[in-house]
Amino acid sequence: MTRSSQSEITRRSNDYYRAGALDHERWAKIAELPDYDRVIAGFDWAKALDVHRGKTSAAILDCGCGIGYFPRRLREKVPFPPHLTFDYDTLDPSSYSLTEHRKNLPHPFKARHSINSSIEDFRPESWLGAYEIIWCMHSLYTVPRERLRGVLSTLASLLTPDGRCFIYLPKKRSAYMALFDLYLKETGHERIQPYLTAEEVLSELTGPNTLTVATVDCDFDHWIDEAEPQTLATYLNQISLRPVRLTFDEWQRNTGFASYLDEAFDPERSAWRFRQEMSLISFSRRSGAQGSA
Ligand SMILES: C[S@@+](CC[C@H](N)C(=O)[O-])C[C@H]1O[C@@H](n2cnc3c(N)ncnc32)[C@H](O)[C@@H]1O
Repeated sequence: MTRSSQSEITRRSNDYYRAGALDHERWAKIAELPDYDRVIAGFDWAKALDVHRGKTSAAILDCGCGIGYFPRRLREKVPFPPHLTFDYDTLDPSSYSLTEHRKNLPHPFKARHSINSSIEDFRPESWLGAYEIIWCMHSLYTVPRERLRGVLSTLASLLTPDGRCFIYLPKKRSAYMALFDLYLKETGHERIQPYLTAEEVLSELTGPNTLTVATVDCDFDHWIDEAEPQTLATYLNQISLRPVRLTFDEWQRNTGFASYLDEAFDPERSAWRFRQEMSLISFSRRSGAQGSA
């Protein structure tokens, strides 16, 4: 994939997730926010893995894998079927993330191929029908809208007949979306598309097609303590994929953000509160009811 074929927003994301740019310590604090625990507790992952009991191995594609927070957390929290290993492929436009991910993967996941691409530019000829599980956790925000249909059909084509694809994304009214929209408005970045929403993915999936689709809502608050203004700055830098990081004071100097943050501040808890409403959308190629997610 050439750099110029990437959309502006994917390019920004890639610049954000480059070597030396990620602040691991603060990122770990943000990843401790409830996003992953909620989605792990809100869905029967043990059952979804157990579907493959009896095989010696099953294949997973982690699409937009980042540095591997989700599989590590899942491994800690969920019982895995015995005697089953998972051949684990990663895809990410950030080569730095691909390298870090391989260092962090626990058994029974077995790191296999690393694919350095955005999902919209991935040409999967040799992987058709290859994956029992695909997960795209917090990673499809930047997919250009006009390429969403193609991306979903690529993901479907990668699944085995008994495979299932998971997409975890915020809904339109979540603070993730509001903050990114505010960032685009305040900085005049009209060329960059607003983040893709869970509703848009769902509406594309529920058209006349042969997929079986299910969703789980995961709603929660992010609280960031007043005593941790730099964590708040990291949070805002992360959401806006800012190539140059701003400090808390710099964010506060922007009147749009200052008033958003004022409203978000809860004096009783001395903390900022951000309401997040996310969906775990899953689909399989199997026709017929799969039961609720
Ligand atoms: C918030 S991180 C999530 C990482 C990981 N999925 C997790 O949940 O721990 C978003 C990841 O998506 C990747 N990403 C951004 N745009 C992408 C695209 N168009 N296709 C695939 N991955 C993308 C980024 O490089 C980054 O590693």
